[in-house]
Amino acid sequence: MRSANTYMPYPMRIDAIIDEAPGVRTFTLKFMNNADAEEFSFKAGQFGEYSLFGEGEATFCIASSPTRQGYIECTFRQAGRVTSALARQEVGSVLGFRGPYGNIFPLEEWYGRNILFVAGGIALPPLRSVIWNVLDLRDRFKDVTVLYGARSVADLVYKHELKEWGTRSDMRLVTTVDPGGETAEWQGKVGFVPTVLETLAPGPENTVALVCGPPVMIKYTFPVLEQLGFTADQIYTTLENRMKCGVGKCGRCNVGPVYVCKDGPVFSYRELQSLPAEY
Ligand SMILES: Cc1cc2nc3c(=O)[nH]c(=O)nc-3n(C[C@H](O)[C@H](O)[C@H](O)COP(=O)(O)OP(=O)(O)OC[C@H]3O[C@@H](n4cnc5c(N)ncnc54)[C@H](O)[C@@H]3O)c2cc1C
Ligand code: FES
Repeated sequence: MRSANTYMPYPMRIDAIIDEAPGVRTFTLKFMNNADAEEFSFKAGQFGEYSLFGEGEATFCIASSPTRQGYIECTFRQAGRVTSALARQEVGSVLGFRGPYGNIFPLEEWYGRNILFVAGGIALPPLRSVIWNVLDLRDRFKDVTVLYGARSVADLVYKHELKEWGTRSDMRLVTTVDPGGETAEWQGKVGFVPTVLETLAPGPENTVALVCGPPVMIKYTFPVLEQLGFTADQIYTTLENRMKCGVGKCGRCNVGPVYVCKDGPVFSYRELQSLPAEY
C-alpha cells in the first residue's frame, strides 16, 4: 500500500493501449497493489501526475469515469520529453501515478438538468470522464447532448465510443470536422465547433454547458453560448496551465491568487471572469 507521502506515486501497469489519432494514445492503467485499487477513488474533472522513472512527470486528466472502478484511463498527445517516453511504452510497462488532484465538476448539483458537452480535438478526454459518469447515472439527468469537433476525421479521438454514442437513444451526439478535414465517407457535419453550436441552438433553460477545447475554440464558443442565453454560471470549463507539484505548493500554475491545481482545474465562466486579464 502507498505511504502517506502525497508525492509518492501509485505503481500502475499498462493494461491496454489504444491509438486514437495521430500522436494520441489512451492507456488503461491498473493498480499493481490490490490495497491501492481498493482505497483509490476520484471524481470527474480531477487530474494526476503520470511519471516514468528517469524521464519525469506529465499532467493529464483522468479520462475514465469514476463509476468504473479498479482502473483509470488517460489519453495524451505526444508533445515533448515525458509524453514521447510514455508513447514508447507497451502493454505491461509500469508507470507512476500521483493523484487524484484538483476540484471536480459538481455533477450532483446538476441532477435533473440538461447537460450540454462542447468539445474540440484532444480536449475531449476530461469531458469523456463526465460523459460516461452521466451516462452511467442516466436517469438522474435530463437531455444529454455532445457536440464534438476535430480538425479532420483522423483527428477525432474515441472513434469506437463516438459510434456507440451515435446509436444511443438516450443522448444526442453531433460530430463535426473543420472544412477540408472531411472524407468521402464522413456523415457528420463540416464546420467549426462554435458555428455548428450556433446552428444547433440549444436552449439555456435548465441546462449546464461544459466546454473544453483549444483556446481559439473556447474564445468563440463562450460568446455563442451567451447569445443563446446561457449565463456565466451555466458554463464550465477546465484549464490546463502548466503544473509541477499538482498540490498547491510550487506556484507553477498560479493565476493571480488562484492555484489552478488546487482551486481548479474546473472553473465556471463566472469564476474565470474574476481572474486576471490573460483569462
Ligand atoms: C490539468 C491538466 C490536464 C491535462 N490533461 C491532458 C490530457 O488529458 N491529455 C494531454 O495530452 N495533455 C494534457 N495536459 C497537457 C500535458 O500536461 C502536457 O502536454 C504534458 O505535460 C507535456 O509533457 P512533455 O514532457 O511531453 O512536454 P514538454 O517537453 O514539457 O513540453 C513540450 C511542449 O508542450 C508545451 N506544453 C507542455 N505542457 C503544456 C501545457 N500544460 N499547456 C500548453 N502547452 C504545454 C511546452 O511548452 C512545449 O512546447 C493537461 C495539463 C493540465 C495542467
Ligand atoms: S502546480 Fe504547484 S502550485 Fe499548482
